[in-house]
Amino acid sequence: MTQKNKRIYLDYAATTPIDPRVFKKTLVFLREKFGNTMSLHSFGQEAKEALEESRKIVADFMGAKVNEVIFTSSATESNNLALKGVAFANKERGNHLIISPIEHSCVMESAKWLESQGFKITKLKVDKYGLVSPQEVEKAINRKTILVSVMHANNEIGTIEPIEEIGKIIKRKSEVLNLKSKVYFHTDAAQTFGKIPIDVNKMNIDLMTVSSHKMYGPKGAAALFIREGVKITPLLHGGGQEMGLRSSTVNIFPIIGFAEAVKICQKEMKNEAERLKKLRDKLIKGILEKIPGAHLNGHPKKRLPNNTNFWFESVEGESIVIQLDLLGVASSTGSACSSTKLEPSHVLLALGLKPQEAHGSLRLSLGRWTTEKEIDYVLKVLPRIIKKLRKISPFKRIWKE
Ligand SMILES: Cc1ncc(COP(=O)(O)O)c(C=O)c1O
Repeated sequence: MTQKNKRIYLDYAATTPIDPRVFKKTLVFLREKFGNTMSLHSFGQEAKEALEESRKIVADFMGAKVNEVIFTSSATESNNLALKGVAFANKERGNHLIISPIEHSCVMESAKWLESQGFKITKLKVDKYGLVSPQEVEKAINRKTILVSVMHANNEIGTIEPIEEIGKIIKRKSEVLNLKSKVYFHTDAAQTFGKIPIDVNKMNIDLMTVSSHKMYGPKGAAALFIREGVKITPLLHGGGQEMGLRSSTVNIFPIIGFAEAVKICQKEMKNEAERLKKLRDKLIKGILEKIPGAHLNGHPKKRLPNNTNFWFESVEGESIVIQLDLLGVASSTGSACSSTKLEPSHVLLALGLKPQEAHGSLRLSLGRWTTEKEIDYVLKVLPRIIKKLRKISPFKRIWKE
């Protein structure tokens, strides 16, 4: 197989293409049904009705009530609102927040900013696979703790966190401490919503971030689940849209697409995950067998069905990404948001990798249109690329292959 005319996309964790079924459904909202949801006339009411239908679809898929979901523009915005909104609304009760050390930069940076505003942040530890220990969460909670934020699955290494256990422990500890209001539990589910099952009640989640463009919907729409009764203050003040928590004219087009993408995932998620797991495991096995000095990052089993992430001895991740791109394969060293920074990934460092090891990372994330042929192609070209790069590697180790 030659890939001369066909590019292979293996960066679905960064963003996904819009499913053609979603695209078809949304077009009418760009043209005929363009109304402002706050308008009283029929254009406005038509858009408002579609907005509420979309809210119901998203809420149902996570087990929430319709009044517990607000639409935002992105997962970054949802995460900022969750952390800052809860921190400021609850500062009379406490000033302590707990996060994992492998959160997406939008959570890490929000926490850092809150620290500059006088809040105290505890960063938990993770094990070598990136797993947070629920017992460590329990130990870290004190009477001043108002929020714990642990992501559902990590965007770089794909490790799925024990969210249900963490949720249980937070609830129990809040009861034991007899706090005036519960320690809220936020999870960033941008990488899991539509890929693995989520139930906000079963998992005792109080706030949850989900995003459209990670699940074959358009960019520009995301949501935040906020459990009834959670005290939160808005970041955007204005016309009072989204139950007063997110003022700004509702961006109806991507929201309709988001809901349609959710409907498709609802029907297809189980089979899609099974198919992707097989391809994922073939890719992992093939790379570890064919390439000496290749190591898997993240948990071997508790990982997203579409995620693979490796580090290669004596090679730089960026060079691999460029070489793969020249052969028509789109990949990444890790998070798309930090792929232009030269610092090693904070996620890989938190797992205990040395900076030099973390620099040799490669993420290949699979998706709805990934085929076995594409995986075979990568398994053919990647060993050659690594061999070639090691020949010119500035690192000390000499490869005798
Ligand atoms: C886990 C996670 N959270 C948050 C984000 C931020 O998403 P966006 O850049 O679309 O706001 C991403 C995107 O990569 C992500 O993977």
